[in-house]
Amino acid sequence: MSNILRVGVAGLGTVGAALVSQVLQQREALIARCGRAIEVVAVCARSKAKERGISLKKMAWFSDPVQLARADGIDVFVELIGGAGGPTKQAVEAALASGKSVVTANKALLAEHGMRLAALAEKHHAALNFEAAVGGAIPIVKTIREGLAGNSFARIYGILNGTCNYILTKMEEENLPFEDCLTEAQRLGYAEADPTFDIEGHDTAQKLAILASLAFGTRVEQRAIYVEGISSIQPADLAAADELGYRVKLLGVAVKTPNGIEQRVHPTMVRKDSSIAQVMGVTNAVTVDAEGIDPLTLVGPGAGGAATASAVLADIGDIARGVRTAPFGRPTAGLGPVRKLPMQRHEGGYYIRLMARDKPGTAATIATRLAEQDISMESIVQRHPAGAPAGKGGPVPVILITYATTEDAVRKALAAVGRDRVISGRPQVIRIEKN
Ligand SMILES: NC(=O)c1ccc[n+]([C@@H]2O[C@H](COP(=O)([O-])OP(=O)(O)OC[C@H]3O[C@@H](n4cnc5c(N)ncnc54)[C@H](OP(=O)(O)O)[C@@H]3O)[C@@H](O)[C@H]2O)c1
Repeated sequence: MSNILRVGVAGLGTVGAALVSQVLQQREALIARCGRAIEVVAVCARSKAKERGISLKKMAWFSDPVQLARADGIDVFVELIGGAGGPTKQAVEAALASGKSVVTANKALLAEHGMRLAALAEKHHAALNFEAAVGGAIPIVKTIREGLAGNSFARIYGILNGTCNYILTKMEEENLPFEDCLTEAQRLGYAEADPTFDIEGHDTAQKLAILASLAFGTRVEQRAIYVEGISSIQPADLAAADELGYRVKLLGVAVKTPNGIEQRVHPTMVRKDSSIAQVMGVTNAVTVDAEGIDPLTLVGPGAGGAATASAVLADIGDIARGVRTAPFGRPTAGLGPVRKLPMQRHEGGYYIRLMARDKPGTAATIATRLAEQDISMESIVQRHPAGAPAGKGGPVPVILITYATTEDAVRKALAAVGRDRVISGRPQVIRIEKN
C-alpha cells in the first residue's frame, strides 16, 4: 500500500513497547477506521539488546532520537522517552522543523516548552498531538479541545496523579499514616524511588498547566500554578472529612475568577457524593464545568503501558486521517498571557484542624480570632480523645469548617490564634472545593 503512514517510535519502555505491539494488533481496525495502514518502520532506544517482548526485526534501529526524527523514511515521530530537555527536546524540534508530525506522551516537555513547540508545529504545518500526556487513556485533551470547542469553561479540576490518589485512598480505607502508604505504593510500583515530584504536586501541576491552556486559551505556564503536596495529610484529617461528608483528594484546579485564571494544586476536600470523590486508587478523573452543560466527569486509567499507548495510537490515527488541530486549540498567537494569582486572594470554604489546649476560654479565643477576620463557621467539633477526661490541659483536636472566606483571612486568624498560645503544633488547613 503506497499511502502507509510510516511511524518512527523513540523510546521503547513501558509506553513505547506497548505502542509497538498495539499498532500490530490493531492493524486491520486502523485501516478500517483511518483508511490507510499505520506501520512502525523505525525505532530508537538506548539498548538494542534489551528484551522488550516485541519483535523489532522489520524496523530500522536508531540509537540517536534526533537522527530518527530527521530520517526521510518516516512521516510521524513518536516521542516516548520522557524528560523536558536533552535529546528529547532536540528530537521533537528536529521532527517538527522538518515538517513531520509529532505525537508525545511527555507532559514535562509540554509544560516547559509547549508554546515554542506548538509555534514550531504551526510554522511547519505539522501536527503536535499529546492526548496521553494528561490523564493517560482518558481522552480529556480532545474533549476540551474538540468535543467542547463551542463551550466556554468556568472551571476544570481533576485527580491527575495516580500515586497520590492511591496513597490517599489507602490512608482513608485502612486508617494508615502517609509514610506507610507511600512505602506500599513504592512496593507495588505506583510510586518512584524518589516520590517527591508526585507527592509534592509537581506532576499534577504540569498536567494542569496543559489543561488550563486548552480550556482557557492561555499560554502554558507551570510557574503560574500554586502547588502544595499531600505529605502533611494525616489519617485524622481523612476521618474528620469522612464524618463531615467529605473526602480528601489531590486536585489540580483551574478556575476563571474576576482576577484572572486561578491555577492551583493542593489537597482538597470534595463532597463525598460528588463524581470526583468516587475515584479511588490509581484511577484519574477530570471534571469540566462548561457553560450550558452539567459538569462532565471523565474517569479512567491515568497510567500504564497499554492504557497510555492507546491514547498515543489514537493521536497517530488522527494524523493518518489527515486531521490536524492547533495543539492548544487555537493559533499560538491567540493564546493569552497568564499570571500567578496570589493564593491569599483565593476564596472558598476551609477545613481547619487545630490541637487546642484543653483549658477554659480556648474555644472563645479561637472563635474571637476567626470573627475578627469575618470568618463564619459552618461547623465546629471539639473532640476529647476516647477515655480522656476533659479540662486536663492536654491538646484536644478542634475541627472547624468555614463558610466561604479568603485565604488571607484564614492565615491571619490562625497566626493570631498561634500568638495566643491556645494551640500546640501547626494548624492543618485544607481547602474545600464546591462540587
Ligand atoms: N508509564 C506511564 O504509565 C506513562 C503514562 C503517561 C505518560 N507517560 C509518559 O510517556 C513517556 C515515556 O514513559 P515510559 O514510562 O514509557 O518511560 P520508560 O519506561 O522509562 O522508557 C523510556 C524509554 O526511552 C529510552 N531512552 C531513554 N533515554 C534515551 C535516549 N537518550 N535515547 C534514546 N532512547 C532513550 C529508553 O531506552 P532503554 O529501554 O534502552 O533504556 C526507554 O526505552 C514519558 O514522557 C512519560 O511521562 C508515561
